[in-house]
Amino acid sequence: MAQLNKVQISSRDWNKVTTDVLAVAVFKGGALSAMGKAVDKGTGKIISKAVKGGDFKGKSNETLMLFSGGSPSRLLLVGLGERKELTLEGVREAGGAVAKAVQSAGHETVSAEVPALKKLGEAETTQAFVEGTVLGSYRFLDYKTEDKDAKVLKSLSIAGGGSGAGLKRGKGIAQAVCLARDLAAHPSNVATPGRLAREARRIARVGKMNCKVLNRDQFTKMGMGAFASVARGADEPPKFILMEYRGGKKGDKPFAFVGKGITFDTGGISIKPSAKMDEMKYDMCGAAAVLGIMQAVAGLKPKRNIVAAIAATENMPGGRASKPGDIVKAYNGKTIEILNTDAEGRLVLADALSYLTKHHTPAYMVNFATLTGAVIVALGHVASGVMGTDEKLIKAIIKAGEATGERAWELPLWDEYCDDVKSKIADVKNLGAPGQAGTIAGGAFLKAFAGDIPWAHLDIAGTAWWDKDRPYVPSGPSGVGVRLSLELLNILG
Ligand code: BES
Ligand code: MN
Ligand code: ZN
Repeated sequence: MAQLNKVQISSRDWNKVTTDVLAVAVFKGGALSAMGKAVDKGTGKIISKAVKGGDFKGKSNETLMLFSGGSPSRLLLVGLGERKELTLEGVREAGGAVAKAVQSAGHETVSAEVPALKKLGEAETTQAFVEGTVLGSYRFLDYKTEDKDAKVLKSLSIAGGGSGAGLKRGKGIAQAVCLARDLAAHPSNVATPGRLAREARRIARVGKMNCKVLNRDQFTKMGMGAFASVARGADEPPKFILMEYRGGKKGDKPFAFVGKGITFDTGGISIKPSAKMDEMKYDMCGAAAVLGIMQAVAGLKPKRNIVAAIAATENMPGGRASKPGDIVKAYNGKTIEILNTDAEGRLVLADALSYLTKHHTPAYMVNFATLTGAVIVALGHVASGVMGTDEKLIKAIIKAGEATGERAWELPLWDEYCDDVKSKIADVKNLGAPGQAGTIAGGAFLKAFAGDIPWAHLDIAGTAWWDKDRPYVPSGPSGVGVRLSLELLNILG
């Protein structure tokens, strides 16, 4: 794991900071904060000159490194765009831009002012800036034995004032996102179901949660026939992982999170083409999000009850693997005709959703899954597809997505779509109508296992990773779902 880990609020004057770099926020056209004005004055108007000379315009995420001629020796100008258009997402991006500029210049410590705008709130702004800086600093270097030049930001000092509570929340959440990114980035020979279970146990220990891990024999005997059918082809031991956090009142219904944890998806007997099959190590991003959420919960200790379930296995072909046409029975008793062994995510989730519905009757249940390639066709890498049975929950998810920059877009689960997953000889089949509404078919199938619980499914196959760099999301796994969920818990109180 490599990202910024040390963040503090500093009361030093700008000219007394001891970091490699001092970052100053500049609005479009050159407007500065009180601290920025003092820096400008104290450095012989170096900032105003850069703006007047046209070298720096103050556009969003624009950066310019300058030598101050005094102390601190380096000044980093970071653009915020138009003052009246600045949002928390803009502040987050500015944090990411600072991290990237400092790192690419080969430095490890920075002091920075949080772009302060009253209307955005001090705690929220500090949180967003810290989140952006931590997330923007993230690099996955675990397997580089020779890349000695790679610099990762070590310390951020907030100069010119900020909120301690906002800092704590931003740092806790961003580090949890980095955990989710890391778990996703590790290849399938490292991020095995067993490894995910060990992470769950570690998080549970830190957060004083219960953690139960069921092995193949246990969950098979219990009746999780759908999950077991996916795990059949795998020699790598599968795990059904349960976590329980009690921060609320005793009888309060918990909020439930569920993750698809396919640590490698070959497609099984319905095997995938070999081109880009390596990307299927990311098929556990739903599980990674859930572990990230629980890690953030362990640190922030919200006052509510939360349960989490992860169904983790490889999807492999083999002499014992399930075959197209096989019929299995899920934990809730429904029979499933498996028409394509590559539609395995919905099978493992069927048992996880059934289990939570039966044993925990959650107030709300939300699952994260890299479920369909079709969601990338529909929404690209920009938004997750969201479907579900409860309008209030879906509205809150969309709102949380907008607030966090982890956008979600609703797709319908009308009866016609649900009819498409009915089987001729079993209760349901794991495919919809050929070539039609593939993402919705996944959601329609899952709906059959959520019972009466207000439930939503997020298809994150597009948003969980991307090969493009964004201001605070380096290319690779994004850790999507963690920030959205923490905001969702806030919204639903
Ligand atoms: N893990 C894949 C979905 C996926 C595809 C995620 C591409 C990320 C990128 C999932 O298990 C799968 O194989 N889905 C099939 C479903 C089909 C067989 C109904 C798909 O999308 O092709
Ligand atoms: Mn698949
Ligand atoms: Zn899959």
